[in-house]
Formats: sequence, structure tokens, C-alpha cells
Amino acid sequence: MNFSTPVRASRLNLSSLLADFTPNTHTWSRLKAALSVITLGGNLLWCMCVTSSLLSFFFFLQVECGDADLSDAEKVYAECSQKRPLPWEECILPQRMKQCVKIGEGTFGEVFSTTNTSGDTVALKIIPLEGTEQVNGEDQKTFGEILHEIIISKELSSLKEKQQNQTHGFIGLIDLHCVQGCYPADFLNAWDTFDQQKGSENDRPDFFEKDQLFIILEFEFGGIDLENSNGTLASLGVAKSILHQVTAALAVAEQELHFEHRDLHWGNVLVKTTKEKKGSFLLNGATNSLETKGVLVRIIDYSLSRLEIDDLTVSCDISKDEELFMGQGDYQFDIYRLMRQENGNNWSNYHPHTNVLWLHYLCSKLISMKYRGSGGRGAKDIRLELTRFYDNVLQYSSATEALEKCPLFQ
Ligand SMILES: *[C@@H]1O[C@H](CO)[C@@H](O)[C@H](O)[C@H]1NC(C)=O
Ligand SMILES: *[C@@H]1O[C@H](CO)[C@@H](O)[C@H](O)[C@H]1NC(C)=O
Ligand SMILES: *[C@@H]1O[C@H](CO)[C@@H](O)[C@H](O)[C@H]1NC(C)=O
Ligand SMILES: *[C@@H]1O[C@H](CO)[C@@H](O)[C@H](O)[C@H]1NC(C)=O
Repeated sequence: MNFSTPVRASRLNLSSLLADFTPNTHTWSRLKAALSVITLGGNLLWCMCVTSSLLSFFFFLQVECGDADLSDAEKVYAECSQKRPLPWEECILPQRMKQCVKIGEGTFGEVFSTTNTSGDTVALKIIPLEGTEQVNGEDQKTFGEILHEIIISKELSSLKEKQQNQTHGFIGLIDLHCVQGCYPADFLNAWDTFDQQKGSENDRPDFFEKDQLFIILEFEFGGIDLENSNGTLASLGVAKSILHQVTAALAVAEQELHFEHRDLHWGNVLVKTTKEKKGSFLLNGATNSLETKGVLVRIIDYSLSRLEIDDLTVSCDISKDEELFMGQGDYQFDIYRLMRQENGNNWSNYHPHTNVLWLHYLCSKLISMKYRGSGGRGAKDIRLELTRFYDNVLQYSSATEALEKCPLFQ
């Protein structure tokens, strides 16, 4: 897989950012975000420093000029608020390590749950980095590739704090660490337990040497994915709420970030129970609410995702990943080919209809899942509504349009 993090879609629009520069945290963080993903030649910034008559700019940009020449490794350490990799036990205290339970896996690595210092359950996504040895049949990620995931995870997580376009539908990123060393024994024990109970497709991570690097993304605990929820969700009413929550989250991210998920299969939609009856989101400044039906949705895994921050596009060039487009046997695999048809195999451009393709796929899964309850009176109507959604949703150009026009959500 060939990641292109970051791509300069067009000229970095620093001048407009600087024109009305008052150092509020918004501008500051966006500028920082923009600069943290791109290696600029020092010259451009230098010219701007000189032509700018504001002394405060000068000092500000001096700091940022230093930043601009950072290597991908240094940028990752900076994102982790570290200068260098730390030993495992400095990042994850022994007591937290003992509590860990493996909850998921992918070719990227392993996911464990544990508790954080506030006593909340969190998920640790642990990804080996930069080594030469293949892991789970794939090359290890580089610092540059992991930066793609870090940036997108941060941007989507922070959508819950925005004033105009706000959603809680993307998994919350709590912390980031870069560690060095062999895989800790507690994690290997948890790995074995998972393997005995569910069977693992991954290599047992016991072969890493002392100098091996890992990135640990610490997320809020989002619940159980849909793939592991067949037969456990209460009713079709819950399915409808899940579809509504996913559509709303995608719509908000489209508006704010020109986001496409590009890999929203049912393993990447987490569901947890809630006592809240209503959920809310903000779209273009307008408050909207929806019925939770007792569940909250969290979207995960941005390894194929694309978004824009100002004029910077962050995407993953999968144009030459032939395997990805050859899958058979599930509608999921058709979606990769359908996305490619729409964007002509150019993965940097924005085609929000790919989000609609995934909604269509998710709807088919939700319709053919098993539910604990029949759903009682009204279940028949909901099934009909979901079927209509399935028959009609592809006509909409984006999740935003689907959210605004589909009768299912009115
Ligand atoms: C612990 O996790 C929760 C959410 O899962 C988060 O809100 C909280 O900030 C975390 N605490 C610390 C100390 O990181
Ligand atoms: C929210 O979305 C609207 C509509 O796309 C967009 O114009 C606006 O800039 C977004 N809000 C922010 C704060 O970026
Ligand atoms: C994708 O499209 C953009 C804009 O249309 C263009 O600048 C870019 O070169 C294209 N990329 C590829 C790989 O064809
Ligand atoms: C869910 O499980 C049932 C059997 O319990 C099966 O018939 C159905 O196809 C499954 N749904 C999906 C989407 O795999």
C-alpha cells in the first residue's frame, strides 16, 4: 500500500491564514496542524517572516520554521509529546498492563482494552513501526504512514468539540505513545487467551527484538463492532438508529473536512449501550437530535480515509493495491471497485458518494442481521423503511444529502 501523507492539493494557503492572524487557538491549531504534516522549504516561510511587519509573527514563525524541517519520525514524536521512544512500562503502568484484554486485531497489529487512570475503559491500538521484518504478512508501517493515521484520528476525534459541525460519532483519541522494546508478557498472555477463545489470524507478537518500535493509539472504548453483534442487538429499531448515527457522523465530517472513510465495513462500526435517549449533532451550525434507541455508534479505522485541512489533502493512494480490488464473496469487496469506478482510481480527489456506497452496504448488513427481539408492533414498518432506504440511497451524492433527504431520517 502506498500512502501519500501528505499531498499538497494546491498551494498551501498560508497567506490567508496569516492575513487575519490573531492568535486564537483555532487559527493556531489549524496552522500548526497544516505545518505539522508538511515539510516546507524554509524559504517561503522566511519571505513571509520578512514581509510581515508584525513582530509577533516573526517569533511565531521562527518557532514554526524549525518545525517545518522535522523528519516524519520527529513529527510522530512531537504528536506523542515525546522526544524519543520510551520503554513500555513508562507509558503503560504495570497495573494497567495486568488488566489488559485483547479485543481485536488486524494486519496492522493488535487492540487491547484496559483502564486508564480515571478508571474508564480504553482501547489500545498497538502497531509495530519501522522494522524490516514482516508482521502478519505485511511490511511494518513507516513513521510517514503512521502520521496519516494520527492526523486523521485527531481531526475526527476533535469533531466533538467543534462549534458548527459537531459529532461524537468518531472514536475519541485520548492519548498517543511511541514505545520501544519486546512485546510485554502481559500482552502476550492476553493475546493467547484471545487466540484460544476466538482464534487469531495474526502472528504471535513474541518475535520482536529489544529495539523494536511501536506506536500506541489510546482510544475511548467504543463498544463491540457490528460484525460481532449479529444476534445481540435488541431490534430493527436499533438498526435504524445505527444507520442514522453513521450517516450523521459522515455528513458532519464531509462538511467540516471533506472526509471519505473509504473502508466502512461492519467491523469498523462500533456500538455501545447508553442510557441517553437522545443524541445530538451540529451540521452547519444547526442543532439536530436523533433517537439513540439505547446505543451509541463510534466509527473507527481510518487507514484508507481521506480528508482536507485547509488546502492540504491527506489520503492514501491505493491505486496500485491490486489485492484490495480483487475480493469476492461479499458486497464489501464490490464497494472498493465501485469507489474506484467513481474516482477513476485517483484517490486524492473528493468523491463523497463513496460514503453513500458504504451506507448502502451497511444497510444491507443491518437488514440481514438477527435481532434479539422481534421489535414488536412497528417492526414491519421499520423493515419496510430500511428496505426503501436500501433501494433509494444510491441516488444521493453524499452522506449530507442522504441525511437531509432520506425519509428514514425525517
Ligand atoms: C480516560 O478515558 C476517558 C474516556 O474513555 C477520558 O474521557 C479521560 O480523559 C481519560 N483519562 C485520562 C487521564 O486520560
Ligand atoms: C461547517 O460546515 C459549513 C458548511 O459546509 C462550512 O461552510 C463551515 O465552514 C463549517 N464550519 C467550520 C467551523 O469550519
Ligand atoms: C488526481 O487528480 C488531481 C486533480 O484533478 C491531479 O492534480 C492529480 O495529479 C491526480 N493524481 C493522479 C495520481 O492522477
Ligand atoms: C446473522 O446470523 C444469521 C444466523 O443467525 C444469518 O442467517 C445471517 O445471515 C447473519 N447476518 C449477516 C449479515 O451475516
